[in-house]
Amino acid sequence: MKQIPVIFWTGTGNTQMMADAVAEAINAAGAEAVVKNISEITADEAAGYDALALGCPAMGAEVLEECEFEPFFTELEGKLAGKKVAIFGSYGWGGSYMQDWEARVKDAGATLVADGVLALGAPDDEAMAKLTEAGKLLAE
Ligand SMILES: Cc1cc2nc3c(=O)[nH]c(=O)nc-3n(C[C@H](O)[C@H](O)[C@H](O)COP(=O)(O)O)c2cc1C
Repeated sequence: MKQIPVIFWTGTGNTQMMADAVAEAINAAGAEAVVKNISEITADEAAGYDALALGCPAMGAEVLEECEFEPFFTELEGKLAGKKVAIFGSYGWGGSYMQDWEARVKDAGATLVADGVLALGAPDDEAMAKLTEAGKLLAE
């Protein structure tokens, strides 16, 4: 069965809820989601998969979380070419970091299966629907 990691950073749980929704959709589509907190996987290990879901909230001033997630993504960026990728994250008042992140994924030569999914705080029904669609597209 095709395994797809869902790798996330979270401070207060919102992005983890989003990761769980993506994982559920991946499993429902017949692939196997492997949900990993960022501390549980290296960029090298992540690069071993053909399709990945990555989740990180807006932190700092509209950037990825800088201590763990940004170093992980910086390392992974050079190994993303040809892969299918979905990205998602929660935010509080802005959310523009997502456009920068989308551009980085595309510039790395990966296929972004859907627009980056944002949720204001905890994911609402609309965000959940987008996460479900992204998970399904990753598993195809
Ligand atoms: C240190 C810090 C910096 C943040 N910076 C931003 C920001 O630049 N833009 C924004 O929209 N939200 C920002 N937020 C809000 C978080 O993105 C928001 O609370 C989000 O729901 C956290 O997701 P999590 O529950 O997965 O940790 C920040 C929160 C913290 C704690």
